[in-house]
Amino acid sequence: MKKVSVSAPGKLMLYGEHAVVYNYPSIVTAVGSRLTAIIEANNSNEIVIDAPQVKDTRFVDAAIKVFSNQFSVVSNVKISTQSPFSGKFGFGSSSAVTVAVLAALAAFYKTEISQRELFDLSYRVVMDVQGTGSGFDVAAAAYGGTLYYQKGGVKLEPLTVDYSDISLVVGYSGVKSNTVEIVNEVARKKELYPEKFDKIMKAIAGLVDNAKEHLLSKEWDRVGKLMDFNQEFLRDLGVSTEKLESLISAAKKSGALGAKLSGAGGGDCMIAICEKSKKEAVAAAITAAGGEVLDVAWNVEGVSIEI
Ligand code: MEV
Repeated sequence: MKKVSVSAPGKLMLYGEHAVVYNYPSIVTAVGSRLTAIIEANNSNEIVIDAPQVKDTRFVDAAIKVFSNQFSVVSNVKISTQSPFSGKFGFGSSSAVTVAVLAALAAFYKTEISQRELFDLSYRVVMDVQGTGSGFDVAAAAYGGTLYYQKGGVKLEPLTVDYSDISLVVGYSGVKSNTVEIVNEVARKKELYPEKFDKIMKAIAGLVDNAKEHLLSKEWDRVGKLMDFNQEFLRDLGVSTEKLESLISAAKKSGALGAKLSGAGGGDCMIAICEKSKKEAVAAAITAAGGEVLDVAWNVEGVSIEI
């Protein structure tokens, strides 16, 4: 094959961040901030990587290594990436690039690879490079849609949610957060306050299971309320910020059914769920509070071969 192009979506955590690191369930959705990997033959006798969207090429290098060990030796190719979204928003560009590159290599070398195998190999790459992470972002990139997810893919259950009645508004706080640092800070809290920590984790796990039921039955008031509860526990864990709090409170005052930070916290994005008729008011309130509203689709398709 001369050229393949494969895209993978980003992610937003709807419920259960941090608790998912400790093997509790979470609910994640794939978002339309897609990252595309293009592989083409290159005669220069080397592998050329052109990936300006990702922080560094370690994920691409590790994906090539894993693919070469498992399937065919990668050589004489150019691998480039494209994405209209900046990596700064915290949509999971490292996981998306890993999944997209592995799927593109499989297509380029005509290698059959199941969705589960793609997830497992990509998760291995992310763990090799990053050393930590639940893999929820890898799952979103590989499977798409909305997933009930437990670390390492122990549970990886697609949820068929009909979101046609509601909107999800995403606000960027203007601050890029460092996930690994925040996950480590949370781990220190676990050491210091093991009992309180355990209570918070169990409470988050309980609300994730409730949210799963309410999402499936489209009980949006409850879906919103559970986002608020989740946010309270994230605040207790110390991962929210003043800026995130002000965006969340602006969204709620303007009619959102619920709102919370999404991801590690310390910056990145918040999400608010609202009736469709309130979308503009909620977005305007987030903007007025100093957030940058990002117009992204959610519950989108997972990795897909484009050419
Ligand atoms: C970060 O986006 C979400 C965390 O739960 C870390 C992870 O799941 O890998 C904090």
